[in-house]
Amino acid sequence: MQLEETARLLVAPERGILAADESSATIGKRFETLGIPCTAESRRTYRELLFTSPGIERYLSGVILYEETLKQATQGGGRFVDLLAERHILPGIKVDGGAKPLAGHPGEFVTEGLDGLRERLIAYRDLGARFTKWRAVIAIDSARPSRTAIQANAEALARYALLAQEQELVPIVEPEVLMEGDHDQERCEEVTRAVLNRVFEALRDHGAHLEGLILKPNMIVAGKKCPIQPDIAAVAEATLRTLRQSVPAAVPGIAFLSGGQTPERATAHLNAMNQSPASWQVTFSFSRALQEPPLGAWAGRADQAALAQKLFSHRAHLNSLARMGRYSPTLEGAV
Ligand code: 13P
Repeated sequence: MQLEETARLLVAPERGILAADESSATIGKRFETLGIPCTAESRRTYRELLFTSPGIERYLSGVILYEETLKQATQGGGRFVDLLAERHILPGIKVDGGAKPLAGHPGEFVTEGLDGLRERLIAYRDLGARFTKWRAVIAIDSARPSRTAIQANAEALARYALLAQEQELVPIVEPEVLMEGDHDQERCEEVTRAVLNRVFEALRDHGAHLEGLILKPNMIVAGKKCPIQPDIAAVAEATLRTLRQSVPAAVPGIAFLSGGQTPERATAHLNAMNQSPASWQVTFSFSRALQEPPLGAWAGRADQAALAQKLFSHRAHLNSLARMGRYSPTLEGAV
């Protein structure tokens, strides 16, 4: 079955996923801090730099694109989707319309984009996409998330997943419990478990084919402003415990988001999790933790492109090692 085969390829050993699907507004903010003008051409140039980096096909199984990029081409005129496919990297597409304030629930969000999704999915598939992503955002503090926010996002994720599977596109189901706030690790675990349980209940209710989807969760960390930060082993242990309690073994793989962790921490956490056997593949689907080093080095300067590509390939390599439990911090800085 095509869905299962695509899902297996996405979480194949030694490989993980690059999330390069930042909306133009989100990448605009990242460009702005580095003084890079944000235009369709600067976004195209940057993404060409990433996708043509030497050796990345050994470490990346897929790249999640934003709609604009799905339709863009290299400077030489070849479509990005074809370039990736030639490198045996599956092209995917972010299909949600972004997290919007949830009416009646201040500080909470619901992801929009279900209207007309079937037609968009058909168009994306015709353009060469093989998989998709939908991100739900769960805000966390002592009173949040509400049951309503969890419920609304779980339902939307399930409806999206079914629509994607209908078009033979693997859905990456991403319920992200945010790192913003001062909550402790225990609270993150409690909330993440509740969210994942509700998401899988909705997926089952709607009839999702669990063997043909990928889960993209947050790791179980403390809020960025929490004075007590768990060490690497504690994050790995709590994350695996939470996932074992909530994620059915039928799901072929879990591909983590990095969520604002430093690149080194995200890699170390992934590595620690891959020291123990699990019933699903455990890999990465990072945006910031893969892109921060190359984006900072490039900063819009053509003469820095080769260095940026080296840093990107190196980061992808380290995550590939971590995905197999073979990373060591001593490998940092080898560029
Ligand atoms: P981060 O790795 O920067 O959290 O991004 C992952 C992602 O794709 C968010 O939707």
